[in-house]
Amino acid sequence: MIDPSTPGAGASPVPVILDGDPGHDDAIAWVLALAAPTLEVLGITTVGGNAPLEKTTYNTLRILTLLDRTDVPVAAGASRPLVAEPIVAPSVHGESGLDGPELPEPAVQAVQETAVELMARLLRSASRPVWLVPTGALTNVAALLLAHPELHARIAGISLMGGGIQRGNWTPAAEFNILVDPEAAKIVFESGLPLKMAGLDVTERAQFLPEDFEAVRAVGGPFAEVVADWLHFFYEFHHALGYAGAPVHDPVAVVALIAPEILQTQEMFVQVETAGQYARGATIGDVYGSTGRAPNAEVAMGIDREAYVELIVTAVRRHSERLAGGKR
Ligand code: RIB
Ligand code: CA
Repeated sequence: MIDPSTPGAGASPVPVILDGDPGHDDAIAWVLALAAPTLEVLGITTVGGNAPLEKTTYNTLRILTLLDRTDVPVAAGASRPLVAEPIVAPSVHGESGLDGPELPEPAVQAVQETAVELMARLLRSASRPVWLVPTGALTNVAALLLAHPELHARIAGISLMGGGIQRGNWTPAAEFNILVDPEAAKIVFESGLPLKMAGLDVTERAQFLPEDFEAVRAVGGPFAEVVADWLHFFYEFHHALGYAGAPVHDPVAVVALIAPEILQTQEMFVQVETAGQYARGATIGDVYGSTGRAPNAEVAMGIDREAYVELIVTAVRRHSERLAGGKR
């Protein structure tokens, strides 16, 4: 497995495919990934979750237009989970899925390929195995694994935001991304591929406080304003629930590839509950090794919060300088 955390001086960037349901924190994860000198974003695929697929795809195209990165191909993915009935989260992200600051209309359309077709094409053509970075339901990733067993060797690993060993957020037991499509998550966790899991155990520690939004805004320029306003919108929902800040979940899946040194992780055997009456969608971590099963995931359990904020601020600054300079 190519370890992206140690690309080595002068090594070529690690190829990644992003997949998500933007969603404020998906958008910020993609801001981080597209600013990272150690990553090469080959493409983005979209899934329903925070909002229906049409809206998350539209939001993806708007985000790339805002970033002036319409060179990145976008493919719409599954319109519904493999088995489960769709769930959406307008209470968190608004009716558009990305409420808050005004965004440009898309300057580009999604490609005609499906998400699985785009991911398969990019995996075949990549110069080295590719990391998949899903930050929404795992429907597209599971569909890819089922449709293309011959491409598993072209996947370096999967760095996902999802799950929670200690608790859920959409139900007491289940985190939203896993609960939207538990059957897909089970396929991913049983795939045998290298897994980095950024669950609620770490992401609820990855909080942006009001002073952190202002550190983003202080970068200056219209792009920084948009990101600061995304953070503030995301904060409003969580503050009402008693959070001190906004738990910016999704970028932690990118951090696992670009700055793993700021995470505390634990190798663990993790299973996905697909049947439970109260616990469907739970990610059950064998913290004490009681099953005797070998670990299948590197689970992030802690984060250096200040370093995390600084990574995002730096990414916003890089994009702002690039956009001000007119460079792509
Ligand atoms: O539970 C948090 C996750 O659900 C994040 O990915 C957020 O964007 C939503 O998809
Ligand atoms: Ca998401």
